[in-house]
Amino acid sequence: MSRRRGPAVPQLVGVSSGPRGAGADPPRPAHLTASNVRIEYRAPGTADSDITLAVDNANLELSRSDFVCIVGPSGCGKTTFLNAIAGFIPINGGTLQLDGSDIPGPGPDRAMVFQQASLLPWRSVLDNVTYGLELGRRMKRSQARDRARGLLDLVGLSGFADRYPAQLSGGMQQRVNLARALAVEPELLLLDEPFASIDAQTREVMQAELLRVCTAQDVTALFVTHDIAEAAFLADRVCVFSPRPGHIVREVAVPFERPRHQRLRRSPEFLALVDEIADVLYGGGAEAGPDAAAPEGDVH
Ligand SMILES: Nc1ncnc2c1ncn2[C@@H]1O[C@H](COP(=O)(O)OP(=O)(O)OP(=O)(O)O)[C@@H](O)[C@H]1O
Ligand SMILES: [Mg+2]
Repeated sequence: MSRRRGPAVPQLVGVSSGPRGAGADPPRPAHLTASNVRIEYRAPGTADSDITLAVDNANLELSRSDFVCIVGPSGCGKTTFLNAIAGFIPINGGTLQLDGSDIPGPGPDRAMVFQQASLLPWRSVLDNVTYGLELGRRMKRSQARDRARGLLDLVGLSGFADRYPAQLSGGMQQRVNLARALAVEPELLLLDEPFASIDAQTREVMQAELLRVCTAQDVTALFVTHDIAEAAFLADRVCVFSPRPGHIVREVAVPFERPRHQRLRRSPEFLALVDEIADVLYGGGAEAGPDAAAPEGDVH
C-alpha cells in the first residue's frame, strides 16, 4: 500500500474577512466537506505498482453560496477531485460529504460543466436546456420551457432559443451549457475549466456573467481553472493544489465585493492578489515533501 502522510490542512492566507462580510456574519454550516480524501486509479487485474495515486489528503469545506476556485499544476488531480464530488468516481479513503451525508453517486443536486459544451446537435438551444428537466421528469414540458427561456435570458441568449448548437459561437455554446446545468437547480455547480477554449475577451465577459448568474441564483460553485486571474476574479477563495497526488496546500481569501466589474482586473489590489496566488503556485508557498511526486506538466 502506498504511504500515508499526516492530514494536509490547508492554510488560509490573504485578507481573512470574506467579500460578503464573513467577519460580521455568523459562520455558515458546511455544505460540502472533503476530509483526507484519497483517490487512486487502478486498471482491473493490475499490480499495486500500477496504481496512480491522483489525490491524497485533500481537505476542503464549502458553505452554501460560496464560490471557490481550484488552481494547480496539470495532472495534479483537480478533475479527479471534481469527478468524485460529482459522484462519477469513488474515493479510496477519507470522507466526502454533502450536508453531512456521504456522496452516494451522481445526483440532481450537483451539475457539472466541462470544458467542451457537448450540446445535443439535433436539439434546439431551448430543447438542450430543457433536456435535463425532461430526463428527470421533474416538471411539465410547458413549465420546463418557461424555465429554460428564463435561463437563456439570464445568460444573454434570449434571442437564440430556436437556433441549433452549430449555429452558435463557442462562447454562446458554453452559455447554453451553463443554462442547461442551472436548469436542474443544482445545489452545487461543478465547473472544470469551462472557459478554457474560449477567446480571452469573450472569456472575461463570460466570467462576469457567470458570477452574476451564480449570485442571482444563489448557487454554490466549485470552479477549476489554470488561469490565476480568472480564479481571482471569480472566487471568494482560491485553493491551490499541490503536484500529484493533489491536495490543497493553501487557501487564499479574495476580498473583493460582488458584483465585480471588469475594471477590477486593472486595480493594484487585484494584481497583487494574482501575484500572491502565483507565488504559492509556482514556488515558495507550495509544500513539496521529499516523497511528493514530481509535477506531470506545467501550469499554463
Ligand atoms: N481514468 C483514468 N485512469 C487512470 N489514470 C487517470 C485517469 N484519469 C486521470 N488519471 C491520472 O490521474 C492524475 C490526475 O489527473 P487529473 O485529470 O485529475 O488531473 P488535472 O489536475 O485535472 O490535470 P489538468 O490540469 O491537465 O486537467 C494524472 O496522473 C492522470 O494521468
Ligand atoms: Mg483536468
